[in-house]
Amino acid sequence: MKRVKAIYPGSFDPPTNGHLDLIERGSKIFDELVVAILRNPEKDPLFSVVDRRKMLESMTSSFDNVSVDTFDGLTVDYALRVQAQAILRGIRAISDYEYELQMALMNRKLQPTLETVFMMPAEKYSYLSSRLVREIAQLGGSVECLVPELVEQKLREKIDVAHKFANGEPGPRVSSVGKSQFKKRKL
Ligand code: PNS
Repeated sequence: MKRVKAIYPGSFDPPTNGHLDLIERGSKIFDELVVAILRNPEKDPLFSVVDRRKMLESMTSSFDNVSVDTFDGLTVDYALRVQAQAILRGIRAISDYEYELQMALMNRKLQPTLETVFMMPAEKYSYLSSRLVREIAQLGGSVECLVPELVEQKLREKIDVAHKFANGEPGPRVSSVGKSQFKKRKL
């Protein structure tokens, strides 16, 4: 019997409950699902790839057919390398559609044997994004119910470090957005 393997590529900075919802849905229709974190040297992420991998591994440990990996270069090349037949992407709202369609069609042009499969997360996650989670956390808002507890805790740790750093204490480098905002806001 033919087994279908899919990759779920993304930045996952940080992974959210919306991502987890999609992973759960994907794990039900694919025999194997690889959550693939893009190692993008051009971006200045909040979390390192190692941190993001650890968070995703912990979040997905209960799914037998889900694994986590990292990749660089083209998504289609990575998909071929791991012998996947499909690329899973989430569509939350119409506004996602144009970008996702363009990417899916370009990926098909690059590699016609690969199919992109779109799935919709639960409605309650339709307004959720990693970018907003980062912003809310960095500005001192609650991200409870938006991300798993582990991610919430990691965000809190990052914020504490950024806060100390902004107050002149030595500490590791944090994203420039976080740094400048922490200078303005006393927590
Ligand atoms: O979570 P994101 O940031 O929306 O994920 C975007 C991602 C990683 C899927 C996309 O940027 C990507 O596939 N990048 C790898 C480079 C690539 O293949 N580019 C051509 C896309 S048509």
